Amino acid sequence: MNILKVKNIRKVYNPENKNTQVVALEDISFEVEKGEFVAIMGESGSGKSTLLNLIATLDSQTSGDIILAGENTKDKKDKDKARFRREKLGFVYQDFSLLNSLNNRDNIFLPLVLANTNYQEMEERIAPIARKLKIENLLDKFPYQVSGGQKQRIAVARAIITNPQLLLADEPTGALDSNSSMELLNIFEEINKSGQTILMVTHSTMAASRASRVLFIKDGKIFYDLYKGDMTRDEMYEKLVKSQMMILGGGKDFE
Ligand SMILES: Nc1ncnc2c1ncn2[C@@H]1O[C@H](COP(=O)(O)OP(=O)(O)OP(=O)(O)O)[C@@H](O)[C@H]1O
Ligand SMILES: [Mg+2]
Repeated sequence: MNILKVKNIRKVYNPENKNTQVVALEDISFEVEKGEFVAIMGESGSGKSTLLNLIATLDSQTSGDIILAGENTKDKKDKDKARFRREKLGFVYQDFSLLNSLNNRDNIFLPLVLANTNYQEMEERIAPIARKLKIENLLDKFPYQVSGGQKQRIAVARAIITNPQLLLADEPTGALDSNSSMELLNIFEEINKSGQTILMVTHSTMAASRASRVLFIKDGKIFYDLYKGDMTRDEMYEKLVKSQMMILGGGKDFE
């Protein structure tokens, strides 16, 4: 069963002005099956965040279709999109996007509060997540009182507490040191093993080597679609390095 189907997506910024228009995505198609952990790689400016924002219904494509959790996102009215996002999607960003005025527990509760969930259910939901993410003793602290790696674990807790159909992450390890990055990727692997579908944009070959599949974007198109299959993490890493050298070189014959 696919959670996400992206069909012939094209995105042009400033289409009305020939001098300033940017074709960020030319023609992108792919599907994500339930339970997959997909990484999207590509050079800076290749359109990764643009693609994620379209899937997240934060922006609209110029043409093409995005079918998410069985619904075509372009049929959604603006006023229904916030709710759709809240119910179906979880988000993790490079800069954590936590509110410093709320303690960590209330940051995690935020999407549930917006959905009018009662307090008892919020408590029941947070307990196993806090245990899994090893943030139990951080819940009463505020974001500014914890480390970057800890902040990102709080942000992941907030993203998954609604049981989203799809977890979207844009450079989730971008602001983390190597140890915290490892920890975060371990968590992504673990929640993926328990069934969470993940779509993660990353520059990091190390991060991408944890995914079950890696899509490379180049010149507004999917250039390469690599499945990890039986490869170990190290083998996948090596394959990714070779693929990137190939892509930079522009050739195609590199199996
Ligand atoms: N709001 C916008 N208006 C006009 N052009 C934009 C806008 N957002 C992005 N672009 C352009 O679209 C292209 C793709 O940008 P995007 O941010 O999606 O790239 P990216 O792959 O996420 O890059 P990075 O790895 O640096 O984050 C770039 O040329 C960028 O300058
Ligand atoms: Mg980006």
